[in-house]
Amino acid sequence: MIRIGDKNFEEFLGESEILSCVRTLAKRIDDDYTNKELLILGILNGAFLFVADLTRHMTLDPEISFVKFASYEGTSSSGKVNDLIGLHEDLRGKHVLVVEDIVDSGRTLLHIQELLKDKGTASIEVATLFFKPDAYQQKIPLRYIGAEIPNHFVVGYGMDYMGKGRNLTGLYQLRS
Ligand code: IMP
Ligand code: MG
Repeated sequence: MIRIGDKNFEEFLGESEILSCVRTLAKRIDDDYTNKELLILGILNGAFLFVADLTRHMTLDPEISFVKFASYEGTSSSGKVNDLIGLHEDLRGKHVLVVEDIVDSGRTLLHIQELLKDKGTASIEVATLFFKPDAYQQKIPLRYIGAEIPNHFVVGYGMDYMGKGRNLTGLYQLRS
């Protein structure tokens, strides 16, 4: 049991179990993208560890970049707009692999898909280390899933609770 802020978390997956999922995905991606121009697009902040471990277990040499969602108040509209920051690459002709730490409702993915369309990519696929099938509300296919997990809040291996816990090597589930 560990404590972060006001909450208790219990280990759900250890470091070696996570790394074995990562290695399996790396092998599949290696096989699928041989001789293709691959751009790994990690979604910050959560995916930083997964991208680091995934790409070091791959034998391909992909382009690696990160994007982040920024919320800002539009000058002419009253609503909040979510934009992607950090997307400087020319995506034309590239096979883009969007890399997420975890897919929950799928809202983030839907948004990313909309922002990446009409950019002339050769393909767009999704790799997520963790997936909560019971929370997923989209139809976007997830090509690479490391592990399906129950619909409970988790921290560790990139994921946070109030900004903390991202550097934990295992995955921890909320207890109380
Ligand atoms: P979605 O848009 O609901 O699919 O959520 C995706 C994002 O929310 C992920 O990239 C995470 O950053 C965050 N998230 C979802 N579930 C959890 C969780 O259990 N713990 C920590 N962060 C989470
Ligand atoms: Mg995230």
